[in-house]
Amino acid sequence: MAYKSIREIFEHNERWIEARLEEDPAYFTKLSRRQVPQYLFIGCSDSRISSEAIMCAEPGDVFIHRNIANVIPVTDLNVLAVVNYAIEHIGVKHIVVCGHYGCGGIKTAMTSSDAGVLNPWLGHIRDVYRLHKGELNAIESPEARHDRLVELNVLEQCINLVKIRDVQKALLKKKLRIHGWAFDMKTGRLNDLHFQANRIAREVIDIYNVL
Ligand code: CO
Repeated sequence: MAYKSIREIFEHNERWIEARLEEDPAYFTKLSRRQVPQYLFIGCSDSRISSEAIMCAEPGDVFIHRNIANVIPVTDLNVLAVVNYAIEHIGVKHIVVCGHYGCGGIKTAMTSSDAGVLNPWLGHIRDVYRLHKGELNAIESPEARHDRLVELNVLEQCINLVKIRDVQKALLKKKLRIHGWAFDMKTGRLNDLHFQANRIAREVIDIYNVL
């Protein structure tokens, strides 16, 4: 919806309240009770990505963290706090890392040029490129190469999750599952990249064990 003014947003808000109350007079009473979502969704900030819409979820179903190109740097206090809160306080059973084809952050990271303040952030994606340079450079079509980096970035960010203490603890107690997905905006379809958390966890925890 393209709003012409901020005022229109508030008018829309009033209509939304009326519609919700018409469906269920206790809607907001229920909504304001404690949240118990089962999913933490870590996605891209891209305005076309709506985790609720993609997952057909309702308010209260998904705890969300978004940043440019769904990166999980293990030194980023923001994402660490979200992951900690989701596992330790909410008790989510699933963490989803969801990238998307046609991602501007990934495209910019694939361009050899100065991206200003974005350089250190895109460096995390360029690290993923470096790790998989052989596979990526063997792909002739620039679009297909981009698509594959979107997927590899998701899988590497899933591995980054496994480096985090709270995640290691929950995985070893078999209380948590990690999923890597890529969303295709051209079709609306979610592609499950089948991140093998248990196998990867065994390999990665050997090296990154922080328990
Ligand atoms: Co994006």
